Amino acid sequence: MADSTLGAYNIEDLRRMAKKRLPRGIFEYVDRGAEDEIALRNNREAYQALKIKNRVLIDVSNRSTETEIFGRKITMPFGISPTASAGLVCEGGEVGLARAAARMGVPCTAATSSLTPMEEIYEAAGGNLWFQLYMWTDRDLTATFVKRIRDTGFETMLVTVDSSASPNREYNHRNGFAMPLRYSATLIAQILANPGWCCRVLAPQYLKRGPFRKANNPPELASKLTQAEVESEYTKPASQSWDDIRRIRDMWPGNLLVKGLQSAEDAAIAAELGLQGVVLSNHGGRYLDSAPAPLQVVAETRSAVGPDFKIIIDSGARRGADIVKALAVGADMVMSGRPTLYGSAVAGEAGSYRALEIFRTEMDRVMAQLGINRVVEIGPHIFWNPPDWVFGGAKPQ
Ligand SMILES: Cc1cc2nc3c(=O)[nH]c(=O)nc-3n(C[C@H](O)[C@H](O)[C@H](O)COP(=O)(O)O)c2cc1C
Repeated sequence: MADSTLGAYNIEDLRRMAKKRLPRGIFEYVDRGAEDEIALRNNREAYQALKIKNRVLIDVSNRSTETEIFGRKITMPFGISPTASAGLVCEGGEVGLARAAARMGVPCTAATSSLTPMEEIYEAAGGNLWFQLYMWTDRDLTATFVKRIRDTGFETMLVTVDSSASPNREYNHRNGFAMPLRYSATLIAQILANPGWCCRVLAPQYLKRGPFRKANNPPELASKLTQAEVESEYTKPASQSWDDIRRIRDMWPGNLLVKGLQSAEDAAIAAELGLQGVVLSNHGGRYLDSAPAPLQVVAETRSAVGPDFKIIIDSGARRGADIVKALAVGADMVMSGRPTLYGSAVAGEAGSYRALEIFRTEMDRVMAQLGINRVVEIGPHIFWNPPDWVFGGAKPQ
């Protein structure tokens, strides 16, 4: 029987393995950040700087990582963030991600820009599937799309709001990698240097589905990844405002969250508008390079929105201990994008599942070491010598 560890004992192992299996331009598109990658590094450093105290001689033999969110039980307070073009790392990658999450019992977020239609993902995977929306300013187009998401069966929707300008990722230019995808000479050379990827991903994609395309796009929008986009005419990202969120709130009956915030001020507006929560995220360090790590703003956000409003964070979580630390500063749940994508590049659904299993095993081990039996017991008391931001400016005396 195949080794279910895949030879990967942590997320960094999966990352290294993924690097070998992908053309350089595609690996860097997934792996890297923006500009000087300050945010990318800081996302990790913020987690690593927090020290937690072990507690001994507490019976933890019946501990559990299980919790719930939006009325549904989840195996651990963790979910998969939306990642456009997951199909570039593994043929039908989005279905594998969603199936792995369903098997683990955690939420997975399907992306507007996915290369597999939302209906196909929903049908193939089921489970606790959420949807990520990129807004269009055209009201009719948005209304039709939101209805389609609802009719498919999604109950929770995240609206991504951090893309008022396209990000500055200089390595993509050097790699000849662009969205829409162009088969530049550099990218073709990188693809040819990776025949394994051609056989595993490119050839089956063309044979089964044709060219890579944003499979959810309505006919009005160009959908082939290689086509010139008309999409920005419809999204007008620079002109989007809270009015657009109000409009979507009024047409969406389920749980509605905004994703891509990095401040308590914005989270307070979301709470005031009656949304169910926010995803504090700096897009994995892929947009604003001097942004704080979401982890660093959780506590101040919690002070601003109160105890019941959901605060989910992503960006930089790579260890089970990170989930524990995020909850201890006040988050309800953690998500991550790259770890399960690395897994997907390594072994499709099995690889994504392996990433989830690593997070769960590590979280369970850390809970035991801290003397914690239940997720609700996690709080700021676990920290040794914490920085002020752990208390959101209200450090206990
Ligand atoms: C390749 C890739 C594609 C992404 N595409 C989207 C997207 O379409 N929509 C979105 O809201 N976020 C997208 N994100 C951001 C993720 O949802 C998430 O915020 C980020 O990956 C979290 O950081 P982490 O990878 O360090 O966990 C993408 C991230 C990556 C790595």
